[in-house]
Amino acid sequence: MRKSFLLSSTSTIVSFLLLVLPCADAQERAVDAEGHQWWQHAVFYEIYPRSFADNNNDGIGDLNGITSKLDYLKQLGVDAIWITPCFPSPQVDFGYDVSDYENIDPIYGTLQDFDRLTKEANRRGIRIIMDFVMNHTSDQHTWFVDSKSSRTSAHRNWYIWHDGTRSGQPPNNWLSTFGGSAWKLDPRTRQYYYHYFYPEQPDLNWRNPAVENAMFDVTRWWYKRGVAGFRLDAVDTLFEDPDLRDNPLLPGKNKYGDPNMDEKYNKKLPEVHDVLRDLRKVADQHGAVLIGETWTKNIDELNQYYGEHSNELQMPMDFMFTRVDQLSPPEFRKQIAAVDSAGGWPVYVISNHDIVRSYNRYGDGQHNDAIAKLMAGLYLTLRGTPIMYYGEEIGMENNDPKRKQDVKDPIGKLGWPEEKGRDGERTPMQWDEGPNAGFSQATPWLPVPPSRKSHNVATELKDPNSVLQFYQRLLALRHQNRVLLDGEYIALNENNPNVLSYLRRYKNDAVLVVLNMSGTEQQVSFDLKPQGLSSQKATTLLTTDSQQAKEINPSQLPLKPFAVYVASISK
Ligand code: NOJ
Ligand code: CA
Repeated sequence: MRKSFLLSSTSTIVSFLLLVLPCADAQERAVDAEGHQWWQHAVFYEIYPRSFADNNNDGIGDLNGITSKLDYLKQLGVDAIWITPCFPSPQVDFGYDVSDYENIDPIYGTLQDFDRLTKEANRRGIRIIMDFVMNHTSDQHTWFVDSKSSRTSAHRNWYIWHDGTRSGQPPNNWLSTFGGSAWKLDPRTRQYYYHYFYPEQPDLNWRNPAVENAMFDVTRWWYKRGVAGFRLDAVDTLFEDPDLRDNPLLPGKNKYGDPNMDEKYNKKLPEVHDVLRDLRKVADQHGAVLIGETWTKNIDELNQYYGEHSNELQMPMDFMFTRVDQLSPPEFRKQIAAVDSAGGWPVYVISNHDIVRSYNRYGDGQHNDAIAKLMAGLYLTLRGTPIMYYGEEIGMENNDPKRKQDVKDPIGKLGWPEEKGRDGERTPMQWDEGPNAGFSQATPWLPVPPSRKSHNVATELKDPNSVLQFYQRLLALRHQNRVLLDGEYIALNENNPNVLSYLRRYKNDAVLVVLNMSGTEQQVSFDLKPQGLSSQKATTLLTTDSQQAKEINPSQLPLKPFAVYVASISK
């Protein structure tokens, strides 16, 4: 009697806790038996919401559009989606100018739509990551409107205001990364405010504790709403030299005709790390991940973002891969070795909404699909967490504007023709071959390219040789294969200029990855005895070559041009 009472009351308590403590439950499941955090085994997928799927047919993508495609994402093998800013915004920088951090822009939907998206995503095991625009707000945010209203307003010191020089010039020589001076004069209060990006994106003053408190509260607010982390925008621009010293000039001019300079006094200031450490403490309370937009040049810089005690960003994006703009095994080897031996968990990215799509950057114009599979075969088989960019999985290409009057991105208008802006990499997702690529029944905000006819989800789902089906198979393998998830990275045949090869090794198991980065057939031979693998047999797990045998001898492996070959090797 007592026992059954105990059992039934225990199960009631357990069900009650499961109901009222979804966060605690999620956190518990977030770490696996070997201590890996959920984000270390997850595949992330960046969605530019304006361009993913338009549910209300106004030509602009929206949150309900994303919800309607969750099954597609699940089938693809995505575990977390990072949505670029969907908060209320005048859309000068398409959402990176936030006017209210705790709401959804009506063009994208409502908070209820967001809640539904989160619920439906979580139901499928997909987590939601939001974009946190920390460095600046919109000039229409109430904080800035008040700040600008008078020199003594409550929010004056929330932004960076300064007198000009005696000769009526801006306070110093700092330049906006989007062209021209980084200072704009407010004629009414006769002071300049600082904006590293557009003038409509005034920089917050992170030296003011009130700013830090308000911004930290924003993250808490979204965590309570169910988000699993943030991608932190433009992290290295948070602080500026308090003495506003001029940056040293460098020879030459940039694409806007401004002098080149070493941004010594307005970028990568050490104070940013204090903020990241504190932000991490809040994230840890919610089992959340922090991904950083950290344009690091080398491993020392990257390690600083992980933090001396791994207490800053779990996932700084180094972008060093995106700077290897050719299929060069020696260059990739160098970058992988560096990132793999850095202090934190590696993060790999090949495309995003600010850079030309990988399909164009690596494609040779003739074998683009094969090369798209090759790049997937590379960054999705490495130790670390990949962040995909929407459309990459179907081989979407850039569709750059042909005429200045068609450009939507302001930097394209300013820098035309040298800088065409970022419209080309932000075009609507290609769902089918129809005129608007199945994105919308209305004219899309950016034109879809002719490639929609061959490169779209519907067509590629029917073709076993498509880029999409290759991604699906590769991601499925990655999810099931412990070696691909956790195995150490061991470079092989390091002097081969054409073929990039490596072993992934986990306990007694190994996976061999071989990538022919050349347009000619290659023959490779592996001696795996130094790795304690004497078997002459490799079992094919995945390959782009349909004629490749199921079992091969690693000492004689023929490779077709741009072939991907992945095999398990027994001891
Ligand atoms: C980086 C974002 O990725 C980019 O799209 C934006 O324009 C700037 N930060 C400013 O927020
Ligand atoms: Ca819409």
